[in-house]
Amino acid sequence: MKAKNSDYIRIFDTTLRDGEQTPGVSLTMDDKIEIARQLSKLGVDVIEAGSPMSSEGEKRVVKEIAKAGLETEICGLARATKSDIDDAIDCDVDVVHVFIPTSPVQMKYAVNMTPEQVLSATFDHVDYVKKHGLKCEFSPMDATRSEPKFLKKVCQAAEKAKADMLNIPDTVGIMIPKTMGKIIEDVRTAVKTPISIHCHDDFGMAVANSLAAVEAGATQVHSTINGLGERAGNASLEEVVMALHMIYKLKTGINSRLLYSTSRMVATLTGVFVQANKAIVGENAFAHESGIHTRGVTVKPLTFEPIKPELVGRTRKLVAGKLAGTRGIKAELEEVGIHPTDDQMKEIVQRVKELGDKGKMVTDADLLALTSAVMGEVIAEEKIVDLCDMAVVTGIKVIPTASVRLVLDGKEYIAAETGVGPVDSVLKAIQKLTSNLAKIRLNEYRLEAITGGSNAVAEVVIKVEDEHGHIVSARAAREDIVMASVEAMINGINKCLIKQRKLGKK
Ligand code: KIV
Ligand code: ZN
Repeated sequence: MKAKNSDYIRIFDTTLRDGEQTPGVSLTMDDKIEIARQLSKLGVDVIEAGSPMSSEGEKRVVKEIAKAGLETEICGLARATKSDIDDAIDCDVDVVHVFIPTSPVQMKYAVNMTPEQVLSATFDHVDYVKKHGLKCEFSPMDATRSEPKFLKKVCQAAEKAKADMLNIPDTVGIMIPKTMGKIIEDVRTAVKTPISIHCHDDFGMAVANSLAAVEAGATQVHSTINGLGERAGNASLEEVVMALHMIYKLKTGINSRLLYSTSRMVATLTGVFVQANKAIVGENAFAHESGIHTRGVTVKPLTFEPIKPELVGRTRKLVAGKLAGTRGIKAELEEVGIHPTDDQMKEIVQRVKELGDKGKMVTDADLLALTSAVMGEVIAEEKIVDLCDMAVVTGIKVIPTASVRLVLDGKEYIAAETGVGPVDSVLKAIQKLTSNLAKIRLNEYRLEAITGGSNAVAEVVIKVEDEHGHIVSARAAREDIVMASVEAMINGINKCLIKQRKLGKK
C-alpha cells in the first residue's frame, strides 16, 4: 500500500461502512453493489464494503462486492478479534481493516481492556491478518484522544506485525488542523509505515483536519460521498478531492467529472439529501443570483467561480430573484431561445424584483409567465408532456395508490405507484415514467402556502432535475393539493425538456 508517487494521495472510501452508520440509513444489497460499482468508476483506491461481523446479510454483501470484479481494492472492517477477522477473510476481501480503541476513556468503557491488553491485541491481530496473506490496515480508534506515547507504541506494535497502513482516526472529531498536523508528525517519528487519516465532522472540521494530516505527511484519506457517516459524518470525499486537486495540486485516482452523479446516486439510495449550500455537490454550489455575480460569471467565469462546474459534472445556474441583474435574467431567457428587447428586459427585471420583494421564490415557470406577459405574446407553451388522466385512491386501511396516463412526444404511457399519501403516490407514478423516458426526477417539493379554511388554495413549488444536472423549478396553486402538485410537476418536466432540447441535449 505504498503511495504511487510522492504527489499521489490514496482515497479510501468508507461510504458503505462508516457512511452506512449514518443514523437512519440502511442500504440493500443491490444498493450497495450499485454504489460500489460507481465508486470503482469514480476511481477510489479502496472501498470499505462493510463490517462482515455485524450480520449474515452484511457478510453476503461484502462477499458480493469482493467478487464483483471491480478494479478497486475491497476492504472489510474487523474488531481486533479472530472471529471478526475470520468473517472478513471469509468474504475474500483484499484488505482487512482492524481497529481497537486506544484512548483511556474508550479502553475502559468501550472494551474494558488495559493498555497492555490493547498493545498485545494489536500485534496479535495484525499478525493474524498478515499470516493469512492479506493486506492489513490498522486503526487505533480514538487516536486523537489517546495518550501520545501510548499511541506511538501501539502504532509500532502494528508496524512490527507488518501492517501495511496505519490509519489515525479522529473518532469524535475534536481536532483542529494544527493539532491534527502535530499528531501525524509525531506518529511519523515513530514508524515508517504509510499513514492514513480518518476524520469525523463533529465541529465541521473533518475536511480541514484531513488536509492538515496530508500536509503533515499522510498519504491516504478516508472519506465518504456527501460526508455521510456516524453523527455529523466523515470528511466529504468530493470536498477533500477537489481541495487536493485544486488547492494542493496533488493527484488522486478520482475522475472529478463523476463527483456530482455519484453524489446524486448516493443521496437517492440513502435518502439523505445534501443541503443546497454544500460545497461541490449542493444545488447552489454553481448558482448565481446577485447582479454583480451573474454579470461577472457571464463575462468571465473566474470572477465568482473558483471551480469550473463541468470539472465536477455540474452546470452553471443563473437564478432570477430580487437580487438578480439584467444580464443574468437575459442569459437565462436566451438559454431557452427568448430574446426580449432592452425595454422589455427592464420591465421583466422589474417584475422579477417585485415578486422577490414579496418574499416569493421566482421559479423558472414564473419567469417565463411574466416574460410572456411583458412581451405581449404567448411564448409557445410547448407541452412535450401532458397528463391525460389520473386516479388516486386513499383512505383508512388503504395503501395510497395512484395511476396516471400521460402523453410524451405524442405517445401514451401508463404507470401506477403506491406512496405514503396521495401526493407521494401520484408524483411517484409520474416519475416512474419520466425518470425512465426522459431521465427527469423530482429534486425538491415544497408546500409554499395554504390560505384560508378547508377550501384553501395550496401553492406547491417543485424542482426537477435531469441527468445533466439542469434543475428547473415550477409552481402551481389550486384548491386541491394533489392537483397543485401534479400541475407543478408536469409544468416543471415540460420546462426541463424544453431546456434540454434548446440546448441540444436530447
Ligand atoms: O471513527 C472511527 O474511529 C472509525 C474506526 C472504525 C476507524 O470509524
Ligand atoms: Zn469513523
